[in-house]
Amino acid sequence: MSNTHPINVVALISGRGSNLQSLINAQQQGKLNVEFSSVISNRDDAAGLQFCERANIPTTVINHTLFKDRLSYDKELIKEIDRHNPYLIILAGFMRILSPEFVAHYSGRLVNIHPSLLPNFKGLHTHQQALDAEATEHGASVHFVTEELDGGPILMQTAVKVKESDDADTLSQRVLKQEHKLYPAAVQLIAERRVELKNGKLYVDDSELKQPLRI
Ligand code: GRF
Repeated sequence: MSNTHPINVVALISGRGSNLQSLINAQQQGKLNVEFSSVISNRDDAAGLQFCERANIPTTVINHTLFKDRLSYDKELIKEIDRHNPYLIILAGFMRILSPEFVAHYSGRLVNIHPSLLPNFKGLHTHQQALDAEATEHGASVHFVTEELDGGPILMQTAVKVKESDDADTLSQRVLKQEHKLYPAAVQLIAERRVELKNGKLYVDDSELKQPLRI
């Protein structure tokens, strides 16, 4: 691994946290040059919080039901995130729509993983959407977050073949396995300071990325 200083990251979760776990594993195995300064969840029952504690990563719960509206919640979230001054904010199954103010505040520093080959199948139930569309290929994408839901510039993708025998469950399991490789790979590229978002376009090693990288 490079000997540059690890990037400081904050991750946001809402539930299971298996993608976060894959990032923590990669970091512990020396394959991901990040330091988790905090993991924040909007739910106190998020399973992902438990293994953070085991990995000695500080956690904070900011319960969205206690806030009068989206913006007041997001302002509190910004306050908590900014205490850590992160280089990157990682959404890992954070099941909330973010306000334009939040997205603008972290422009170029906010990434998400979405379980489809974007721009196909935005939103929820992506595996069922892929089956309904009779897609032959499906997968996952890591993208920078912009105001358009699941619409920001895509850094990296991974694909799986859709089998005739697949249902949404079997397909989601195969995609999730790939997600666990994809997210650490994409974040490592960012940790190597090789990725930049400028005027809505992604640059990798100073060249404009014309299409998403594939692993
Ligand atoms: C993943 O499928 C991810 O692509 C999507 O939400 C799910 C989160 O799963 N954004 P987990 O909490 O990381 O296990």
